[in-house]
Amino acid sequence: MNNLIDIMQLSTEELQGLINTALDIIADPKKYAHVCEGKKLATLFFEPSTRTRLSFEAAMYELGGHVLGFSEAQSSSAAKGESVADTARTVGCYADIIAMRHPKEGAPLVASRTAGVPVINAGDGGHNHPTQTLADLLTIYREKGGFENLTIGLCGDLKFGRTVHSLISAMSRYKGVRFVLISPEELRVPRYIVTDVLEKGNIPYEETTSLEDAMPRLDILYMTRVQRERFFNEADYLRLKDSYVLTPEKLIPAKATLSVMHPLPRVNEIAVSVDSDPRACYFKQVLNGKYMRMALILKLLEVQV
Ligand code: CP
Repeated sequence: MNNLIDIMQLSTEELQGLINTALDIIADPKKYAHVCEGKKLATLFFEPSTRTRLSFEAAMYELGGHVLGFSEAQSSSAAKGESVADTARTVGCYADIIAMRHPKEGAPLVASRTAGVPVINAGDGGHNHPTQTLADLLTIYREKGGFENLTIGLCGDLKFGRTVHSLISAMSRYKGVRFVLISPEELRVPRYIVTDVLEKGNIPYEETTSLEDAMPRLDILYMTRVQRERFFNEADYLRLKDSYVLTPEKLIPAKATLSVMHPLPRVNEIAVSVDSDPRACYFKQVLNGKYMRMALILKLLEVQV
């Protein structure tokens, strides 16, 4: 594999390999401090980002490599009308690997066809976000010790929340996993995820609008932000944005072993007072994302350590 466009390009064995590398980096960061010397990562971000872009950059620096790129389309020649394919072909002349975020679904795939170097999808529209899933998987692995026999509640904007789509696909491959899909009617998970992933794989799932009903059964609660930037109509966003707000009171009936996750950024869907609950894992996800991106860069550049 030379690119990471969709999480399903990675087998469960390859995912475990990335997790093992990430755990080794955590245990012995000095061993990895110079392994990418002379290599360059380009971060091409046509959409805003804090965690994904900066963790990719931190990852490459901590591997001894260098970083170049842009953080908004307006500061690149996309603003003059350059195509994604031409931008990727150009940047492939300067960098050894590219991480791309773009508002259009499929843009990183298009880039991968002309770049001539590995391309990583750092989020494409409302479609996929495979490296967030890598962060999520390392977090689940560290919190739960594995991936089997988990009841996973996904709550909020399941329609536009690209991290949800990648996580459902990835977790569907493990034994005994079941999903509780908690959303307003208008923000239900897309039909193609239901038919192509859940029903095709015979994965147990239920759809509900009630977080309260689901709470006592969950091993993982994955909260998501309502994705304002994907709405066509501001009035709909305003009506739906506070559909679910997790508070300490709502966690009272939850398991003591629950893990509360969120890809971040949060807006209003988790009260700040939840942050001190030992079950809150969302800032652990942030850090785990850096380690998994380090592991991914090593894999795609075929660096042996
Ligand atoms: N989780 C995530 O993708 O965050 P950013 O948008 O800040 O990169």
